[in-house]
Amino acid sequence: RDGPQFVPLGFRHLNKETWVVSKNRHDAGERLNYVNTPHVIAMVGLPARGKTYISKKLSRYLNWIGINTKVFNLGEYRRHATTAYKCHEFFRPENKEAMAIRTQCAKDALDDVCTWLDNGGEVAVFDATNSTIERRQLILDIVVKKRGFKLFFVESVCDDPKIVEQNIMEVKINSPDYQSMGADVALRDFLQRIEHYQEQYEPLDENTESELSYMKIFNTGEKVLVHKHEGHIQARIVYYLMNIHIIPRTIYLTRHGESEWNREGKIGGDSQLSPNGVKYAIALANYINGQNIKNLRVWTSWHHRTIQSASGVRAPQERWKSLNEIDAGVCDGKTYEVIKREFPEQFESRDRDKFAYRYPRGESYEDLVARLEPVIMELERQGNVLVVSHQAVHRCLLAYFLDKNSEELPYLEVPLHTLIKLTPVAYGCKMEQINFPIEAVNTHRPKPKDLPTSFDSMGIKSTNMEPGFLEDRFKTEGKDKKKEGLDNGSGKIANNGDATLPT
Ligand code: ATP
Ligand code: F6P
Repeated sequence: RDGPQFVPLGFRHLNKETWVVSKNRHDAGERLNYVNTPHVIAMVGLPARGKTYISKKLSRYLNWIGINTKVFNLGEYRRHATTAYKCHEFFRPENKEAMAIRTQCAKDALDDVCTWLDNGGEVAVFDATNSTIERRQLILDIVVKKRGFKLFFVESVCDDPKIVEQNIMEVKINSPDYQSMGADVALRDFLQRIEHYQEQYEPLDENTESELSYMKIFNTGEKVLVHKHEGHIQARIVYYLMNIHIIPRTIYLTRHGESEWNREGKIGGDSQLSPNGVKYAIALANYINGQNIKNLRVWTSWHHRTIQSASGVRAPQERWKSLNEIDAGVCDGKTYEVIKREFPEQFESRDRDKFAYRYPRGESYEDLVARLEPVIMELERQGNVLVVSHQAVHRCLLAYFLDKNSEELPYLEVPLHTLIKLTPVAYGCKMEQINFPIEAVNTHRPKPKDLPTSFDSMGIKSTNMEPGFLEDRFKTEGKDKKKEGLDNGSGKIANNGDATLPT
């Protein structure tokens, strides 16, 4: 393609072409002509204002939607450049020697940011206090004026002492700086450190820094201000950061109970629960109802098996079409064995790159991530939610919460009759699994260890294939809905779960 492109969801694949253009051009003016110009997101704010939290969470989200993102934390550069941290004195503005080290660390980190963006990175998050106009001008000079990247500041402002103290106790006293100090001493030292920053702090201001693009988040999202944001990436970042919150809550994920088609080894479809699946639906309802979860909401897909599985849970229920299982297109209703026999080259292609592989007339995992983005956004806005959905869907949701890449994602294990409990902690998410001792088939198909180097089974090399060749083959075969036997070799799992079976 010769011009700028609008890529609505992530840059995977499409961006490669655009990137080649911008990567080889160091002229700032030219680079800015492209929609997908690499970005630097620079955090701003006093210590313990959630900058690292926001950086990590934003990076996890952007990577999940397919935008290659990396966080550069200045604290790590500082620890690398100095001997063990002694006390807050290091951060006094009058401490000239320390100030020189801090400025050098910022320059080193920004150099690394630029090198990384030059080598294919798309968004670099510069996680530092960047709390003075002078420091922000330095970033502007290096990142925009010299290199032609786009720059967006995200400032977190928090004047609630309770939140600040809670943040210090939750994460700061466990930081490498305070390894050898008790909690009380660490808290006092950190508060003094904040005071040193406070002396020089210049919040972003639309009069003094009118040319900058930025957003300000007040008191964990109570109010948000956006100034001169530009383009698709910044709009996505603003929208995402407007939706997140830090109120404690739990997200529960479960697949539907075992279905009739699970038992037959067939993929997709809209079958009913098997007798064991019905047992799971009862056990799940008893368990969840017994937990008395405050303001719980239940989301299911549109398929019978998820609606049946959630039917006994006493909480408001919503049906999401976006939570439907991956569409296997022409393979829907077949077992893996049958697909392998009828379409060996398709089967092998999927094993080679399961994330990108799209079933003819169906979906890929990559498509599924795009379909699930509104679900993730709404989950971020909500409190306690139970999501009853499907294997591939839950792999995508788990990859978001657990920061798994696109190679790991399609192979994440999400067994039947298991409830996954996700609780936000510090900078990530704690995962617990509650296994229900109700027998179910195992539908997980691991990545085969020895993939042939070419499509030997077809006698053709992948490089010789015309685009559309395989699609054409499927058009002539059509959708085969005939009944296939129990031939996928799924083993039954003897569940040694840790949940006591609720009555
Ligand atoms: P430092 O400058 O010392 O690196 P920081 O600003 O990066 O500090 P974090 O380490 O990110 O602070 O603090 C983490 C805590 O911030 C978490 O407990 C999280 O709940 C909380 N937090 C997240 N978002 C916000 C926000 N917008 N405002 C205040 N606190 C927040
Ligand atoms: O087998 C159950 C199922 O939910 C199918 O409906 C779906 O096609 C499959 O799992 C997804 O798993 P995989 O991507 O590993 O084939």
